[in-house]
Amino acid sequence: MRFLVFFLYLFSPHKFSIALLNATTCADTSNKMATTEPEPVETPSEDVYEIAEVDAKNSGADEFMNADFSKKVVMQSEKLNWSSRRGDLVGKPLYVCGGKMNGAVTVVVKYFPNADFEFHDHPQGEEIFVLDGVFTDERGDHEAGSYLFNPETFTHTPSTKQKGNLILIRLRQYPNIGVRRTEKVVNSNKMEWVVPDFKKRGEGVTEKLMYPLEEDQAEYSERQWIERWSADATPEPFVVEDLLEIFILKGGFTDEDGSYNKGDWIRLPKGSTFGGKVTPGEEECVFLIKTGDEYVVPEQFKDSLPDYSAESEQ
Ligand SMILES: [Fe+2]
Repeated sequence: MRFLVFFLYLFSPHKFSIALLNATTCADTSNKMATTEPEPVETPSEDVYEIAEVDAKNSGADEFMNADFSKKVVMQSEKLNWSSRRGDLVGKPLYVCGGKMNGAVTVVVKYFPNADFEFHDHPQGEEIFVLDGVFTDERGDHEAGSYLFNPETFTHTPSTKQKGNLILIRLRQYPNIGVRRTEKVVNSNKMEWVVPDFKKRGEGVTEKLMYPLEEDQAEYSERQWIERWSADATPEPFVVEDLLEIFILKGGFTDEDGSYNKGDWIRLPKGSTFGGKVTPGEEECVFLIKTGDEYVVPEQFKDSLPDYSAESEQ
């Protein structure tokens, strides 16, 4: 089976789309490897393997998912079922615009132990945040807490080690316009928490910027950072100028609509207010946050985006 999968990928005309899900190693191989390494292996359950493979003809997902940008969206990723598989990778899509294989995708992906991945490029860019385990490519081993920004024209051949990994990926949401964007490899564990100077954020709020504004990222409207609220923080609410996306890495927070926990992906529409406090009982809340909406809908799908306005009026 593993050789069949490898053969199919080798000659696939859609190699670039394997950033979503692609691998060639099977569970029996990972079990054999477990005897040579001291680290315990988390073997994926059989029902995960039974999820249908995703390919270009059967994308396994809606063409558009959470693509109505006028609404607040909350996806509790830790409670979602794995809904797609390619080789030894499984995924939980959070946002899809234009189909999983060729469109913009935000997805939580799990690499099974020892999974590897074919060489591929990244039309319209890729962004990865390592949530657990180790993500490996030509640049080295990237532990949990690592942030990778892979611009258009970037290529790599990812894999993972015995433990596997869990990563948050955004695909095709970062085109190069005129100039190639700056590739980033950041280990946030080695960064200091600093008081934000981008905008006033209130007492007890600190951050780690993923790409400094003085670099050529300044050409683009998106901003991305990790924000931490201490238990007694009083975050300054602010109005969302375009879109705002949050993925909670640790702890939880509460706003007027409810409480959010580790693994939750929240997207707020333009004009809404982002605020809240650490949920009582939590020591802190740490989340990845992104602002900017310019390229969330890829150019090639702008005309086919469903009209949600009639739905909103009901
Ligand atoms: Fe990739």
